[in-house]
Amino acid sequence: MARSLVAANWKMNGSLAGNRALVGGVLAGVRDLSCEVVLCVPHPYLAQVGGLLEGGRIGLGGQDVSAHEAGAYTGEVSAGMLCDVGCSHVVVGHSERRKYHGESDALVLAKVRRALDAGLVPILCVGESREQRESGATDRVVLAQVESVFGGLADVAARKVVVAYEPIWAIGTGLAATPEMAQDVHGTIRRALETRLGQDAADVPLLYGGSVNADNAASLFAMKDIDGALVGGASLDAEGFVSICAANAAR
Ligand code: 13P
Repeated sequence: MARSLVAANWKMNGSLAGNRALVGGVLAGVRDLSCEVVLCVPHPYLAQVGGLLEGGRIGLGGQDVSAHEAGAYTGEVSAGMLCDVGCSHVVVGHSERRKYHGESDALVLAKVRRALDAGLVPILCVGESREQRESGATDRVVLAQVESVFGGLADVAARKVVVAYEPIWAIGTGLAATPEMAQDVHGTIRRALETRLGQDAADVPLLYGGSVNADNAASLFAMKDIDGALVGGASLDAEGFVSICAANAAR
């Protein structure tokens, strides 16, 4: 069975004081849970949150990484810097980056490579828009996004990637995919990974993201190929996020 993982994506939310309270609540709540937990926080707060997490069992992640190694790239953050401040993971290719920052599949692959080279686990986000789903293009769109990255990686590197299926129409809308809908796409991704990685595809964590909350998490995690979640809005509330982690630990 693939490793489970519940990753928080705080997006562009947080403050020094608010982070302290939120991280304190999450740390206390997940102390006795067995699932892997990572908090992906805005870059300015990585050092603060890293300090708060020190010695605990929650990992730290960035929300984006530069495709470049270092140098004259104003505003960018390198994979080396993320490692330097204690990150273990980084979100790559989130639909909000693809949409608002024009990130192409080629750029997403370059970022995934940089992350892997630095020793970070990339959480690769894929997912279709509402129009694409309604026109029956979901599998084609998602597989193209998955294959454009996995096709560009050596086998050893490909085994380290975490995939997050996040249907764009479910993000921030309160309208999560049903467990069956999500499982359908997760099954498709798993089969594509099998042709690439053989039996090792079973070990690649496949996360679902898109309006995951304390009420729907357990039914999503009950699905065969849903190993964990990438949680946006609900990760900003300690109690709700801890409930999602607890549902994952019980799976
Ligand atoms: P919500 O959980 O707010 O729908 O966001 C999902 C997401 O985009 C996580 O990366």
